[in-house]
Amino acid sequence: MPDPHTPCQRILVTGAAGFIGNAFLRRVLSKRPDASVCTFDALTYAGHEENLEDLPGAERHTFIQGDVADAAAVRKAIASFAPDAVVNFAAETHVDRSILDAEPFLRTNVFGTQVLLEACRAADIRLICISTDEVYGSLEAPLEADTDCALAPRNPYAATKAAGDLLAQAAFITHGQDVIITRSTNNYGPRQTPEKLVPLMILRARAGASLPVYGDGTHVRDWLHVDDHSDGILAALERGKAGALYHFSGSNEQSTLGIVRAVLDAVGPTGARIEHVRDRPGHDRRYQLDVSTTHAALGWAPIVPFAAGLASAVAWYLDNDAWSRATAGEDLRTFLEANYAGR
Ligand SMILES: NC(=O)c1ccc[n+]([C@@H]2O[C@H](COP(=O)([O-])OP(=O)(O)OC[C@H]3O[C@@H](n4cnc5c(N)ncnc54)[C@H](O)[C@@H]3O)[C@@H](O)[C@H]2O)c1
Repeated sequence: MPDPHTPCQRILVTGAAGFIGNAFLRRVLSKRPDASVCTFDALTYAGHEENLEDLPGAERHTFIQGDVADAAAVRKAIASFAPDAVVNFAAETHVDRSILDAEPFLRTNVFGTQVLLEACRAADIRLICISTDEVYGSLEAPLEADTDCALAPRNPYAATKAAGDLLAQAAFITHGQDVIITRSTNNYGPRQTPEKLVPLMILRARAGASLPVYGDGTHVRDWLHVDDHSDGILAALERGKAGALYHFSGSNEQSTLGIVRAVLDAVGPTGARIEHVRDRPGHDRRYQLDVSTTHAALGWAPIVPFAAGLASAVAWYLDNDAWSRATAGEDLRTFLEANYAGR
């Protein structure tokens, strides 16, 4: 277990070719000049080698391509890099994809978590499991889930994240393992796979294309800048207690329509228009987290104001056209319309 006052020197970050793991990787390399970081990532449709270019302190970064559900590959990475801690961002994360096919979610989010738990226990190192507000299910305003709330996931993605979290809690209770769970609300910022809401809307708005919004667009999420989230995770890694659960929220609730209108305003006039489309099956109305215990325990609070954070995220996607072209996968809207037709 790391000394709570000594920053880790060697951190294995799984899933750091994706969105939040990559922001965390960049944060650690910039803020901890003595730290070495190894990215372990399978490079699925959501992981991009482009995200591992132009890293600050690149000489302190290494990359291993591998699958968290492959126990031999995970053990080998831990043996060769010899980390003091592992931070797990590797996950299947897109609710829509989980509705169409939950199996990869079970493999990565459940089985992969158990593989990491066992490998970290064998190596006697801390594991941070990154999780989501979605495990608590839909909450009426003004309710906020506190860290004692029962889990009530309502879509396959959330159910697999909840299962991974329960395995982590079980490892702490059963084995006294040094494991911490963190849960956050929706993140926004640069380098998110372009099929997710914010980059999808930015790129479609720029192209003057229609902006598909599920149902009436009044579903509410809380939005947290990815750098604020990364700072919270770093605080949990360095100062968190084994077995603890920490919540991170931006205390910034927005409806889907509110987010899309804010993106449209930031992109400027292009002729793009909002188009309401058939709602996602079982679409949760609202999530929110109570962050009071995290504020008290870690001294963490978000600092990026939403308007400035969103403006800089929009500018990043517009300025990094080559990145957007390289990372854009299939057009998810066409994919979903084809798959949800008639349901
Ligand atoms: N994005 C959000 O708004 C949000 C909010 C709350 C919590 N989270 C959680 O944060 C974590 C990271 O989310 P994200 O949005 O950055 O995800 P992402 O989809 O952008 O990236 C996931 C990364 O994991 C990698 N990966 C997937 N399966 C793998 C496997 N089997 N082995 C190794 N690597 C694999 C992918 O290649 C990719 O690099 C997830 O656990 C997610 O549940 C995300």
